[in-house]
Amino acid sequence: MSDVTIRQLGLDYGDTTVLKDISFNVAEGEFVTLLGPSGCGKTTTLMSIAGLAEPTRGSISCGEVTLFDGAKRINRPPERRDCGVVFQSYAIWPHMSVADNVAYPLRLRRRPKAEIAAAVAQTLALVGLGELAQRYPHELSGGQQQRVAMARAVVYSPQVLLLDEPLSNLDAKLREQARVWLKDIQARLGLTTIFVTHDQDEALAMSDRIVVMKDGAIEQIGAPEEVYREPSSPFVASFLGSSNLIAGTVVGASAGRTDVRIGRDGAVVSVDGPVPAGVAEVQLMVRPEEVRLSGQARDQSAIPVRIESRMFLGAHYRYGVEHAGISFFVDSRDAITGASAYAHIPSGARVFDATPSAPSNQEPVHA
Ligand SMILES: Nc1ncnc2c1ncn2[C@@H]1O[C@H](COP(=O)(O)OP(=O)(O)O)[C@@H](O)[C@H]1O
Ligand SMILES: [Mg+2]
Repeated sequence: MSDVTIRQLGLDYGDTTVLKDISFNVAEGEFVTLLGPSGCGKTTTLMSIAGLAEPTRGSISCGEVTLFDGAKRINRPPERRDCGVVFQSYAIWPHMSVADNVAYPLRLRRRPKAEIAAAVAQTLALVGLGELAQRYPHELSGGQQQRVAMARAVVYSPQVLLLDEPLSNLDAKLREQARVWLKDIQARLGLTTIFVTHDQDEALAMSDRIVVMKDGAIEQIGAPEEVYREPSSPFVASFLGSSNLIAGTVVGASAGRTDVRIGRDGAVVSVDGPVPAGVAEVQLMVRPEEVRLSGQARDQSAIPVRIESRMFLGAHYRYGVEHAGISFFVDSRDAITGASAYAHIPSGARVFDATPSAPSNQEPVHA
């Protein structure tokens, strides 16, 4: 097993820059997920590591071995990179049996027959396909085909496992089971893994760390809890989980606290932490589950709201509420009837600079 280091990777297709300055590392045995919307460059990053796409700039190394270096003109062919890849389409051979599909990477490496037979049997047992070794792909379910692809990727003990949305073709229930199954195999083999998905739940559930991407660049890198609780930009806040971004203005600051007026003429809420001088327009970011909703004002921080919508979601209700012309969502286990209520916005709400000239990659103005 090896670690992977990616430095200032860039990739252009003609005049279009698809990857911009991508840098991150994956420790030995770590499970790192590239997460972002469709077209943000996840597959291109993964294929650059596998050697199936050629970057324009930067470097990629695996342990002591340089796989790619734009400046030094190093570009190892894919078969000499030792990466096990599971493609989104699985790409298993339709004319080969399950056993032959899994044996393929070992035959390519000219391993002895007895060794191949033993490795195939062991790997098929690992992924729970021991009984189906002689079947053909068209005789398998989607979930079983996905296991064949996984077995073929790990059979020769690669240094790195690369997975491109391997669960996205499975139906919802199977997908949740496959998460557990895949994580279990990854942990048992101690495989250094780079996983690609556009599904935030999958990323939160499976990863040691998440690399959030947008438009070919990295927005934030952190543990699932960190990117969820301390998003570094409004983009990350809205991409991971539900979040409200409430427009407001700074009306005062004292003793490390900042007072923000909601909308143009709404109530003033006090949040923790200072805001840099000169920042006037802000966005308060708070998740629906962090706001408390009650029939009565519990304290001075209570904001009167009008209830615009109400949805029962099983574990809780989701209310759409409005205050001073600004609408946001609140989750509550309580069934609140009536047209008005009080919302309590926690003092831990994040504040983002919303000055119109602020750069798009906004830093939070305080943690
Ligand atoms: N061979 C190619 N030629 C030109 N543009 C490409 C090529 N492959 C991918 N792209 C573009 O690169 C961007 C990133 O694509 P991709 O890495 O597949 O995104 P993701 O996997 O995050 O959905 C997209 O805008 C896509 O259209
Ligand atoms: Mg993709």
